[in-house]
Amino acid sequence: MNSKFSYRLLPLLIMAAPVLAVDADNPHDLQESRRIAQGFVQRLGGTLKQQLATAGPAGAIGVCKHVAPALAAEYSQDGFLVGRVSLKTRNKTLGTPDAWERAILEKFDQQQAQGSAPAEVSELTEDADGRWFRYLKPIPTQPMCLQCHGQPDDMATEVKAMLAREYPDDQATGYRAGDIRGAITIKRRLGDAGE
Ligand code: HEC
Repeated sequence: MNSKFSYRLLPLLIMAAPVLAVDADNPHDLQESRRIAQGFVQRLGGTLKQQLATAGPAGAIGVCKHVAPALAAEYSQDGFLVGRVSLKTRNKTLGTPDAWERAILEKFDQQQAQGSAPAEVSELTEDADGRWFRYLKPIPTQPMCLQCHGQPDDMATEVKAMLAREYPDDQATGYRAGDIRGAITIKRRLGDAGE
């Protein structure tokens, strides 16, 4: 009776261990990721707005080209790796999603198409490189983004020419306000001790 009881409990115990690790882990990384994502988006958006007002869209292209990767590098501290990804990239070197990011970006698009606003996703994952805390926050397209990511008619001739020159493989046009342009992605490698 006793041994039968403990055998039945065994699978539960095995399943409970990693679940407890998730609970212990997420709050700090999640909170920190939210802080990073908010800071990143606010600073990039602020600089972009200012540049659009003073230099126009052609002049502001440099903000997205230089400031965005610089900010991503600046926020990549304390083991957190920060970037931006999209299903339709302008800069495919920096912006191409991995399998985990791609699956969630596709889900964001489905939710958007069904009329519900997609929300951030966080998860603990495991791959050949180890265990990771992962975070993905959708970036919606605002009206001001259309100057460089919109339909051809939304974009100035000068901007289109510059983008064609700088980004010959550009896929990041044709968006409408409210579409999901991409996501902020954040990951941090977790220690072996389940911290
Ligand atoms: C002045 C032109 C311009 C405007 C306005 C603009 N972008 Fe971009 N965007 C770019 C350029 C250029 C890149 C490529 C940056 C690089 O080389 O890393 C880019 C890249 C991105 C990326 C990275 C993924 C990719 O496609 O390579 C995201 C996400 C993004 N933009 C979102 C936005 C959002 C959201 C807005 C509005 C808030 C916006 N952009 C407004 C020019 C612009």
